[in-house]
Amino acid sequence: MLVNELRIVGSTQTNVVMAAELIRIAQRAVKQRPPEPRKEGLGQLVYPFDPDLAWAAVTYLRTPTRVLWDVYRSRATRLEPLYDELCADIREDQRALWRDRDGISVEARRVDEFAAGERQIVGTVKNAIVDTLARRGVRLHVDPERPATRWVARVDDQGELVVSIDLGGGSLSQRGWRREIGEAPLREHLAAVLLMLCRFDPRKDTLVDPMCGSGTIPIEAVEMARATPRSSHTLRALGLARDAQPLYADADPLVVGCDIDLDVLAAARDNARAAKSPNITWMRMDIARLEPQAIADIAREKGRTIENGLLLCNPPYGERLDERDLYDLYRVMADTTRRFTGWRAGFLVGNPLLERAFFDAGMKPRIKKPLANANLRAYFYLFDL
Ligand SMILES: C[S@@+](CC[C@H](N)C(=O)[O-])C[C@H]1O[C@@H](n2cnc3c(N)ncnc32)[C@H](O)[C@@H]1O
Repeated sequence: MLVNELRIVGSTQTNVVMAAELIRIAQRAVKQRPPEPRKEGLGQLVYPFDPDLAWAAVTYLRTPTRVLWDVYRSRATRLEPLYDELCADIREDQRALWRDRDGISVEARRVDEFAAGERQIVGTVKNAIVDTLARRGVRLHVDPERPATRWVARVDDQGELVVSIDLGGGSLSQRGWRREIGEAPLREHLAAVLLMLCRFDPRKDTLVDPMCGSGTIPIEAVEMARATPRSSHTLRALGLARDAQPLYADADPLVVGCDIDLDVLAAARDNARAAKSPNITWMRMDIARLEPQAIADIAREKGRTIENGLLLCNPPYGERLDERDLYDLYRVMADTTRRFTGWRAGFLVGNPLLERAFFDAGMKPRIKKPLANANLRAYFYLFDL
């Protein structure tokens, strides 16, 4: 069956945040408010396909991992009927989804329920596309390295096989600035989710990541504030691309990244340079010694005033430290956090000891939300100070 839907895919538990970000982006970039999406599971939103919305989503969204254009759907559970159905769909498809001599790639994801292996599904989808178009005089070839369009086959919640084009051409989480991996860096789209959950307002909030590691949160905060566009050669191949500028080119939030480790700070600086975010202040600092005055001094040096403040980080959660040391570190974090009266503080952490340490220091979160971090169960906490 031919379908025509825009699918936004992200981490589990991020539906609400992704929908909110799309509203903000679409209103600014294409002057439209998207319709209410259909929610699939806890990390997928589906909208009627609209070329403007698709362009805005791929170009500006930061919280999802993928943006897909669903084009065919099949109830087939075996390969032969799937092939026949897809060929029939492609034959009658009038959309400009291919050009003569394009390279394509096909991948299958979450297809365990299908009565065939992943490679067989990939082969069937690929053959249906290439064979049918060859009969129309369109010559396509397989190019896994740099395809014009990446096709994805996936079984959805209703058990149907959905064939889509990956409009971002791969994971949107990779922004292209990361030079060094560092230790357990936060994935970029999750940093954007955290900033959204904290309602980071770049016009008013000074952002401090006191355990910044490779700098993901500070860099993401600056890019999110500016709404830096991303280019996609898939959009160009499909004729959906347009000129894109930052949506808020003048945004210049006050952002500070601190860490106890000089080596990771050097990596953070390199990453920020690659991301063209030179205005972030990086500082070596043990979180135990961090005081609001140090941030006020930075603001004064830059001729800025602090209206509101946000502390945000993902602290270590126990791969190296034993429970006692971890509790002590979290307790120190709680004591530092408490000094930032009037600020907000957000933490993504996979260990319940953080909540206990903050509770022991007299603090209860306003928000506690489950959120997976690299497939580990974690929680996001937001405190008003
Ligand atoms: C999980 S990592 C943060 C990853 C980071 N968000 C990124 O994307 O790369 C935790 C960081 O906390 C830092 N850290 C550990 N103890 C610290 C302390 N007492 N003060 C400041 N930073 C500390 C570590 O050096 C490490 O870089």
